[in-house]
Amino acid sequence: MDNVIRDISILPTEADQTCDFKTTVNENTGKSKKLYIESYGCQMNFSDSEIVASIMKENGFDTTADFEKADVIFLNTCSIREKAEQTVRKRLSQFNAIKKEKPEMTIGVLGCMAERLKEKLLEEEKIVDVVVGPDAYRDLPKLVLEAEFGAKGVNTFLSREETYADIAPVRLNSNGVSAFISIMRGCDNMCSFCVVPFTRGRERSRDPYSIVLEARDLFEKGYKEVTLLGQNVDSYKWAPEENNKARLNKKTDEVTQVVNFANLLEMVAMVDPKLRVRFSTSHPKDITDEVLFTMKKYDNICKYIHLPVQSGNSRILGLMNRTYDREWYLERITKIREILGDSCGISSDMITGFCSETEVEHQDTLSLMDLVQFDFSYMFYYSERPGTLAAKKFQDDIPLETKKRRLQEIIDKQNELSLNRNKLDVGQIQEILIEGNSKRSEEQWKGRNTANKVVIIPKGNFQKGDYAKVLIKDCTAATLFGEAVA
Ligand code: SAH
Ligand code: SF4
Ligand code: F3S
Repeated sequence: MDNVIRDISILPTEADQTCDFKTTVNENTGKSKKLYIESYGCQMNFSDSEIVASIMKENGFDTTADFEKADVIFLNTCSIREKAEQTVRKRLSQFNAIKKEKPEMTIGVLGCMAERLKEKLLEEEKIVDVVVGPDAYRDLPKLVLEAEFGAKGVNTFLSREETYADIAPVRLNSNGVSAFISIMRGCDNMCSFCVVPFTRGRERSRDPYSIVLEARDLFEKGYKEVTLLGQNVDSYKWAPEENNKARLNKKTDEVTQVVNFANLLEMVAMVDPKLRVRFSTSHPKDITDEVLFTMKKYDNICKYIHLPVQSGNSRILGLMNRTYDREWYLERITKIREILGDSCGISSDMITGFCSETEVEHQDTLSLMDLVQFDFSYMFYYSERPGTLAAKKFQDDIPLETKKRRLQEIIDKQNELSLNRNKLDVGQIQEILIEGNSKRSEEQWKGRNTANKVVIIPKGNFQKGDYAKVLIKDCTAATLFGEAVA
């Protein structure tokens, strides 16, 4: 999996040996207790950790980047593939040693693994004190308090309404330039391989007014980019009547019409032309021309779409219950190119070795990749998840070596495509937003162009958070290298 291009932070990430994200803010606002959080899985989970930190802050906890100093350790977990759960189990056994020295410390498992395994986690992992699912974070302070008195607690209630719209996230891992805004929760699709509908519950959209307020507040604090997050952003829908229960204050009455995703994008884009807007994830069955035209209309909506295809073969897509076929997907790509042009960034997720996939069907994924010319992709081999439709109905019958070989073939293909796509940028003048130091050198900035590609430039007189016009001079499959132009 090493070759998978992972340098984009908004997308699902494979939790490997270490966590993808830990508390990086050492807060000292005079609270008496310390909270340490580690997060695994997708950006939505990271975004939830910021809500958790906010709830805990209200209840006497500052965050710490040092788990040895923590009174409470939370692992915000992912269940998407078996490996992600194994990583968390390993980490819990490491924390076991610390807990032995410091028995008063509370250890909590949050997120998707908590939701999937519920009470079983307390039995399996004896050191866990609290188990709390994604919709029950408001209950954390109470459960932690009870745990201090020795009571183990579980709350994995899934809600039809909870969106945490009234909670201002504590920005834990931010570069101060880009931030994430959750616009919806849950998922109503039933992709047969996927555990998310079971761990995150029913889909619900957040009050658009609260989203715009959050974007405006971030801009006023100096942020230059927001990414709107949801498992399927294209099905965002907020209707004043239907969502009555979700109303949090009188101000929401200002939104009187049904708001779809295109409308919401426009509302956020209008916050300020200097605030870039991104979004993830789009579903091929739901992305509309209206969204594409809204992207075209506003320069500050980035020209980049993450549109996971999963497979290039229509029979496999049917078994996956993706509800589109190869032709539908390719038609959507044609439309994107027609409306937004060839330079619009397009990326994908792909799964190899799904139940009964033949070599010929695997070749269809490779040929689709050639047709679409993805800029980058997240690629995985199929991992059966208990309770999913595929686990119940189909046999996980592709041998591991075959899955891995097919995965390597699509990774090799993607590396080739990424390099070709990046070469097209060489010689162009592009605007980038500077996010911070490049990983390799303090003398260079790392920024991103509208298509979400990383661009490295010499520092010059620029500051973090500046927009810079750059000439792209060179590239690899993962990175563009440029120089500022006047
Ligand atoms: N909502 C997003 C995906 C969220 S999960 C969407 O619909 O595209 C992120 C990615 O993990 C998926 O796109 C899929 O490629 C991968 N994935 C999900 N379940 C998986 C499984 N059981 N085995 C392997 N990969 C899986
Ligand atoms: Fe999972 Fe499908 Fe929902 Fe994405 S759209 S979260 S893959 S069920
Ligand atoms: Fe995200 Fe993993 Fe849950 S990908 S929604 S944290 S299963």
